[in-house]
Amino acid sequence: MNVKLLSGALGAEISGISLNNINKEIFNTVNELLLEHKVIFFRDQNITPEEQIRFAKFFGPIEEHAYVKGREGYPEITRLIKGAEEKNQWGEGWHSDVSYNVNPTKAVILKSIKIPPVGGDTVFANMELAWETLDKEIKDIIKDKRAEHFSLGAGFFIDEYKYFESNGNDAEEYSNHHPIVRTHPETGKKILFVNWTYTKKIEGLEESESNEILSKIFEHQSRLDLTCRYTWSENNVAIWDNRSVIHYAIADFFPGRGLGHERIMDRIAVLGDRPY
Ligand code: SIN
Repeated sequence: MNVKLLSGALGAEISGISLNNINKEIFNTVNELLLEHKVIFFRDQNITPEEQIRFAKFFGPIEEHAYVKGREGYPEITRLIKGAEEKNQWGEGWHSDVSYNVNPTKAVILKSIKIPPVGGDTVFANMELAWETLDKEIKDIIKDKRAEHFSLGAGFFIDEYKYFESNGNDAEEYSNHHPIVRTHPETGKKILFVNWTYTKKIEGLEESESNEILSKIFEHQSRLDLTCRYTWSENNVAIWDNRSVIHYAIADFFPGRGLGHERIMDRIAVLGDRPY
């Protein structure tokens, strides 16, 4: 096995492990790598949908999405399709997946099916480091507070784009409150748990103060020195620990360069715990 670090902050590309025939021992190794690097990538993984599902289930029960249905025949897998001429895609804007749920996603296993020749990288940021490096004055204000996360957050393109071909689970907008600083249930580390897309309000603060602090946090948590960036090729698998990272699928599909190509991903999300 070889581990190549992707940046000084987080992320590693793993080679020498094949994900199509996972057993408990290999899973334990993968999980340790995930806890250490927070997002890990595997190239040349020609796994079937059944193998992707089997692998995901080692992490825990599969999560059902409030707004989108799974693939025909594979309800556990959501197929994310960006059409050739579309300029937007699922996941643009900093977020952690479904942070608005009572039990937000634990981990995501994302497999690339079709990738444009250029564009469509994904960026991840380390929220353990974001908490450690946050300004002391802001830390003192927010450390025991909760924030409200809304399901139809910023940049949510419901009904507009091709990826909602997979729509069908039609929940109304809803929200949940979570601690702004959560504890990782496996490592015990403190994590900054808010994000630009879904977090709208800090409980117990006036709206203007809440907005001011949230915008400072959003700026801080997306600092480039807290990130790593991954350039996909087909048949890659990414696994991220959704409790300790935020991520951003870059929609750099501009005329003459990235525009004019499909981007297709198969996503499985694993149900998480209630943040504490
Ligand atoms: C996501 O945000 O869940 C998808 C990320 C990607 O397609 O790169």
